[in-house]
Amino acid sequence: MKLKKLVVIAALFFNNQINYSCSIFAYVGSQLCKAHVLKGLSRLEYRGYDSSGFAVYDIVTNDLVVLKKPGKIAELKMAALASSCDGYAALGHTRWSTHGVSNEVNAHPHTNDDRTFALVHNGIIENHFQLREQLSKEGYTFKTETDTEVMVHLFDQELKKTDDIKKATLQTVRKLKGACTFVALHKDHPEMLIAARQRAPICIGVGEDGMHIASDFLAFADKTNQVFFMPEKSIAFIKKGAIFAYDYDGNVLPIETKTVNLQPSAYEKLDHDHFMLKEIYEQKIAIEKTVAHLHELGDKVWSQLGLTPQQARTLFSLNLFGCGTSWHAARIGQFFFEKIAKMPTSVYLASEFRYMEFFPCLDCLFMSVSQSGETADTLELIRYFKKFGARLATLTNVATSSMVRETNGHLLTKAGPEIAVASTKAFSTQLASLYWLAHRFALQRGHINMEQMAQAEKDVLHAASVLEQTIDQYKVDIIEAAKTYAQAQRIMYLGRHVTYPFAMEGALKLKEISYIFAQGYPAGELKHGSIALVDEHTPIILFSHQDPVIYQKLVGNAQEVKARGGHLLIFAFEGQDELIQLADRVYTIPRVAPLLEPLAMTGIMQFFAYQVALVLGRDIDKPRNLAKSVTVE
Ligand code: AGP
Repeated sequence: MKLKKLVVIAALFFNNQINYSCSIFAYVGSQLCKAHVLKGLSRLEYRGYDSSGFAVYDIVTNDLVVLKKPGKIAELKMAALASSCDGYAALGHTRWSTHGVSNEVNAHPHTNDDRTFALVHNGIIENHFQLREQLSKEGYTFKTETDTEVMVHLFDQELKKTDDIKKATLQTVRKLKGACTFVALHKDHPEMLIAARQRAPICIGVGEDGMHIASDFLAFADKTNQVFFMPEKSIAFIKKGAIFAYDYDGNVLPIETKTVNLQPSAYEKLDHDHFMLKEIYEQKIAIEKTVAHLHELGDKVWSQLGLTPQQARTLFSLNLFGCGTSWHAARIGQFFFEKIAKMPTSVYLASEFRYMEFFPCLDCLFMSVSQSGETADTLELIRYFKKFGARLATLTNVATSSMVRETNGHLLTKAGPEIAVASTKAFSTQLASLYWLAHRFALQRGHINMEQMAQAEKDVLHAASVLEQTIDQYKVDIIEAAKTYAQAQRIMYLGRHVTYPFAMEGALKLKEISYIFAQGYPAGELKHGSIALVDEHTPIILFSHQDPVIYQKLVGNAQEVKARGGHLLIFAFEGQDELIQLADRVYTIPRVAPLLEPLAMTGIMQFFAYQVALVLGRDIDKPRNLAKSVTVE
C-alpha cells in the first residue's frame, strides 16, 4: 500500500495520551534496533510505570529474546545491553499495573507457550475473566495474573487454526472487549510487526530506515514527523517500507500520514522542579496563544465546529460533557453560554450520562471538553450520541486525537503539550475558549456587537495577567502557608454560582497531588448539613464572587464558618473589605470582567495545591494511581 501523505499545515501536534496502563514502543526496519527501542521507552518514562520489558528477533540465534524487569527502565537497559542480542525488529513496553502486581512475571512482553511470538498490550480487556475461563477449559495454563495473557493464548489459538496471519489477527481482536491495543512480533515473520488498535491510541512513524510504532509519537520524534494514527478498531501489518492496515471486517484502510511537529521543550522541565509548576507558569502565554488563534478563526469557527452560520444563529441548546477537570471547565462554561449567549446549556459528567435517559435533540450541539481527546468515558459518550444522529463537536488540546476524528467539528486550545497529570494550563485555556465561544455565539445571534466581542477578548487577556501576577504577588506567603495546610486531614472548598464548580476544581487539584481529602461544595449548602464538619481541624477555602448579591451571601457563609470556630482562607476581590476582615488568611485579587472570577483565581489556586503537595513530598507530576489520560472506562 503506497503511503499517501496528507500534509497538515503548520500546527504543533502533541500526542500525549498517557494510557491508564502502559506505553508501547516497537521498531521494524533496516537498522539494528535494541538501543533505539530502549531509548524510545525512556522517552515515555514520564507517563508512569512500574515495570518494563523488551523482545527482539535476534539475528544470531534466529530466535526471540525476551527481557523483563520490575522497577525502573535502567534495570532493563542494563540487562539488555549486557546481552549480545540484537535485531531489526523489536518491541518494548512499560507497564502500569492494572491486573497483577508489578513483577518480572507480569511485566510485558508476554509469549505463547511455544515462544513463537511476543506481545505487548495497552489497556484493559474487559471480558478477560470469561475468556480466561474458556481458554483454561480448552487446555491453556496461565502463568501470570495479567489480562494480557488472555490475548496471547487467544492469538496462539487462532494461529494454530490458520496460516493466514491476517485472519488469525482479526479472529483474535473480534473476541476482545475493552481497551486492547497490542503489538506482536512473530519469529516466523521477523521482518514484520503486527498491531491492533482498540481504544488505547497507537501510531506509526514512517521513517527512512524503518517504522516506529508507539503509544505516543514522542518516542520516535527524533526519527520522523510523518505519522499514521491507527484508527479505532483497526489492525496493521508493518514492514520496513510498508504498512498494510484493515478494519475489523478485513477491509483495506488507506494509510494517510500526518505531518506532526513537536515542541521538544515541552518535554523538558527547564528550570522548574516539576512539569506542573512549569505549566502553571505557562498559562498566561497559553491563554494568549489560544485567544490569538480564536481571534484569527473568527467566523470560520462555525464551519470548524461543523455548523452553518445559520445553525449557529438558530441552535436551540448546547450540551457540554467531559470528565474531571474538563467537566469542571464545562460547568463553568455553562454560565458563559447561558448568561452571554442566552443559550440553554446542559452539562453532563460523561461517566454518569451513559446510564441516564437521553432525549435526542437534533437542534442541539453536543460538545465534549477534553485535554487529551482520548478519555474513554467521554469518547464512549460521543459514540453513544452518534447513534442518535446528534450533532457533535469537541473542545480539545490535541488536534490528532480520537475526539477530533470522531466528531463533526472541533475547537482547539493552544495550551501546548501538558505533561503533568494534574491539568492546569489545559483548564485555563478551556475556560478562555468557552468564554470566547459564548461571545461568538452571542455575536452571531445579535446579543452583542463586534466592539463587545473585541472587549471580551481583552477581558480574557486581562484575567490571564491577573492569574500570573497574583502568583508572583502571593507566592512567598503561599509557600509559608502550605506548611500549615499540609497538616490538615481534610479541607473544604466553597464557592457560589460560577465559583462553585471552581471550588470543585480547587478540591480536585489538591486531592490528586497531595492526597489530602478535599471537597468542593456550594457555599449555600453548608448550612444544610456539611457545616457539622466545620472545626479548627478543617480549613475552609472560600472563593469569592464579584456580583454584589452573591458576594453578600458569601459574606454570610463566611460568618457561619467563623461563628463555629472554623478557619477561613479566602480568595477575595479588591474592595471586598467585609469579607476580607473575616479571613484568617486572604489573597486579594484585582477585579476582572464578570464570570472570569475562576480564571483570575486559577493561578494561586493551583500554586497553593502544588506547594502543599511539595511539603508532603508527593510525586507531583505522576501522582499515585493516576494517568494523564484515562483511556479505559
Ligand atoms: C485533572 O487534573 C485530571 N488530570 C483529570 O481529572 C482529567 O481532567 C480527566 O481525566 C479528563 O481528562 P481529559 O481532559 O483529557 O478528557
